[in-house]
Amino acid sequence: RIARRDLPWRRSSDPYRIWLSETMLQQTRVETAIPYYERFLEAFPDLAALASADEEDVLRLWAGLGYYARARNLRRAAQAVVRDHGGRVPRSAEALAALPGVGPYTAGALRSIAFKEPAAIVDGNVRRVLARLFAHEQIADAEAWRLAGELVPERDPDLWNQALMELGATVCTP
Ligand code: ADE
Repeated sequence: RIARRDLPWRRSSDPYRIWLSETMLQQTRVETAIPYYERFLEAFPDLAALASADEEDVLRLWAGLGYYARARNLRRAAQAVVRDHGGRVPRSAEALAALPGVGPYTAGALRSIAFKEPAAIVDGNVRRVLARLFAHEQIADAEAWRLAGELVPERDPDLWNQALMELGATVCTP
């Protein structure tokens, strides 16, 4: 292992931790997110703790990250998982998509990183990597998802997706 960054959420395969980190990382850089991630987990160490938390306490720990809808949705989604799925994060794309705040990105992250299914993830970095790989000047969202879906391997889809994101963040930069 040469380039893979040692990030706190990579030391766990707990779907809740992966969900939390990917939710933070959608609008926030890795270095900024790390201390928020650590503090959040101290206060709400698991999904049940988040589901039963007061919204105000959750938002206070999110202060500084912005885009508070992410935090509100995450808490509501935790409640939905407790209520509808016995407290276990569901695996299917359909059940994930029904959770508040879970779009294609978060669903793909949970399916591939937490559950090791060959599901694609596309973020801004992956789009750029794909555009350059295929020598496209522009790449439409649907096309990026299609290509990413074709490329993602059956084996180690978690490593693949995170490597693509990391390549875009650290080497294949804008
Ligand atoms: N950006 C968002 N999620 C990431 C992850 N899991 N690894 C690397 N970069 C990311």
